[in-house]
Amino acid sequence: MQEKKIKDFNSYKKEYERSVKFPEKFWEEKANNFLWKKKWDKVLSWDFTKPDVKWFIGGQLNITENCLDRHLEKRGSQIAIKWISNNTDEPNRDLSYSQLHKEVCKFSNVLKKNGAKKGDRICLYMPMVPELAIAVLACARIGAIHSVVFAGFSAKSLSDRINDANCNILITADGAFRGDKITPLKHISDEAMQNTPSIDKCIVLKSTNSDINIKSGRDVWWKDEMEKVDKNCTAETMDSEDPLFILYTSGSTGKPKGIVHSIAGYMVYTEFSFRNVFQYNEGDVYWCTADIGWITGHSYIVYGPLLSGATTIMFEGVPTYPDAGRFWKIVEENKVNIFYTAPTAIRSLEAKGMEFVTPYDLSSLKVLGTVGEPINEDAWHWYDKEIGNENCPIVDTWWQTETGGIMISNLAGVTPSKPSFATLPLPGIQACLIDENGKELEGNSVEGKLCIEFPWPSMARTIYGDHNRFRETYFSAFKNKYFTGDGALRDENGMYKITGRVDDVLIVSGHNLGTAEIESAMDEYENVCETAIVSFPHAIKGNGVYAFVICHEEAGNPDVLRKEINDLVTKIVGPIAKADKIQFVSGLPKTRSGKIMRRILRKIASGDSENLGDTSTLLDPSVVEEIKLGSL
Ligand code: WT7
Repeated sequence: MQEKKIKDFNSYKKEYERSVKFPEKFWEEKANNFLWKKKWDKVLSWDFTKPDVKWFIGGQLNITENCLDRHLEKRGSQIAIKWISNNTDEPNRDLSYSQLHKEVCKFSNVLKKNGAKKGDRICLYMPMVPELAIAVLACARIGAIHSVVFAGFSAKSLSDRINDANCNILITADGAFRGDKITPLKHISDEAMQNTPSIDKCIVLKSTNSDINIKSGRDVWWKDEMEKVDKNCTAETMDSEDPLFILYTSGSTGKPKGIVHSIAGYMVYTEFSFRNVFQYNEGDVYWCTADIGWITGHSYIVYGPLLSGATTIMFEGVPTYPDAGRFWKIVEENKVNIFYTAPTAIRSLEAKGMEFVTPYDLSSLKVLGTVGEPINEDAWHWYDKEIGNENCPIVDTWWQTETGGIMISNLAGVTPSKPSFATLPLPGIQACLIDENGKELEGNSVEGKLCIEFPWPSMARTIYGDHNRFRETYFSAFKNKYFTGDGALRDENGMYKITGRVDDVLIVSGHNLGTAEIESAMDEYENVCETAIVSFPHAIKGNGVYAFVICHEEAGNPDVLRKEINDLVTKIVGPIAKADKIQFVSGLPKTRSGKIMRRILRKIASGDSENLGDTSTLLDPSVVEEIKLGSL
């Protein structure tokens, strides 16, 4: 049923060449391995100027039949989801493919019973428990569009996202365990729902046994509803290009963008990339430590692995609870073969010391992966030596919420790796670098802005409700190219190294944050007049958040003020957006046209204030001197 994987460097090269010469034929072959209700009439139509991209046009399918139903005969009793609790005294839960199928069908009926219809948007604000995956798949089964909001976001962020997509149902839980803390999800949801007129129903899962309020008529319990419904649910017939989900990501300006992915292309690409990048073999135990609230969890905890019939681990907790050995204990106990995490996690566990690693038997590991931000060479070598015993290929996977799947990465043990390099594009991915003048850089040993010049199946189709912004953000910088927002270099062998964002997006602990989002949250504080946010290198988080803040009146106690500003950021955006450093200043370096020169602030924030480059366009150079003196 499944296609063979690419097995050696030569066949990678051949496949890559074929995918560029005959892209439609290449992807059609992959698509043929899935279950379709009706096959497509045309493989691809595209126009990057609009942009308008469609794959497998005229095809009909349901992605959950490909994740679940088609596996039942061969692997009904194989574990699909292996769930590991945050709390070490709570039993783990295994769901076989047939159990997962049954739960998904039942919950699909719960959704319908509560008024959900094909095309509706449903918001999920949940802990990392199997019910989150069940709810995601149930939405897909009935043709509703899921919008998962990470359970670390604030009430304001949640209501903004619900309102942007006009969701009619919210699925949440009483609370979420996170280490020794509980996040009160239902309380936060209640606060959000004071502001979300479109929500008719809220389905609540009992997870932490916390005290919560139930509003009758609106709120129903997950468990009660599951007892009332039939266990069979026919999968809705969907068109290839119907939307599968919306997932919000920060932009360099304005509010978060609701990235829309469509069904068929996303399905074909996540399966293909999962099996080839990780070189997944039948029977492997696979663990991606991300949260399903991010794209990594969507593509490589839920869809990619389940489409491939894999056993995917879902971990509810955090890497440091009850201690910094938790990841390695889980690897040992579950004989994990493929392990996929973020550089931030690697760096923070490295810093805790080897006494948390040595006690565990990590010999089951075969492949290691990283994602979310550049991995520095030190962390790469520590991961390779101390976790992989110099015996596991490391895949450094570069991609984005917008790309849906892994774009540039070595294939584990098949194509060469190079520390801190994402290396080569996957078959089907036509990457290129563009110089300051908008010209494509030919040949090797060059550096520029990373773009993609041909469509791939899992690319985002639009920003929900704002196609103009989609075109502006990704397709207007360079004609006929998708612009990633990242800078990159290509070495003498054609291998790519991602050098970081070239726009006003910050990658902090592998999370994508918009400067504008944090700035406007801080500006809400009454004594704050204006702020400028930049990133600075941070040993554990990759980048930290540095805030330059102008106040109306001098602060009494600056540390109290710093805390209050950060509390407000936590409330408005979420704790991940808190500033690591807040410097109070009397002015910001601006151009004559009033634009903040972030380049200068970035230099100062990085402690490199001697080399500020060209400052001749500054309106008032003395501001810079003051900021330099006061930098933290
Ligand atoms: C941005 C996308 C894709 C899953 C998680 C993040 C950065 C991602 C790498 C990598 C260097 C990376 C880029 C990208 N990034 N992976 N392997 N090496 N940088 O998704 O939140 O949409 O963020 O993360 O800057 O543009 P996201």
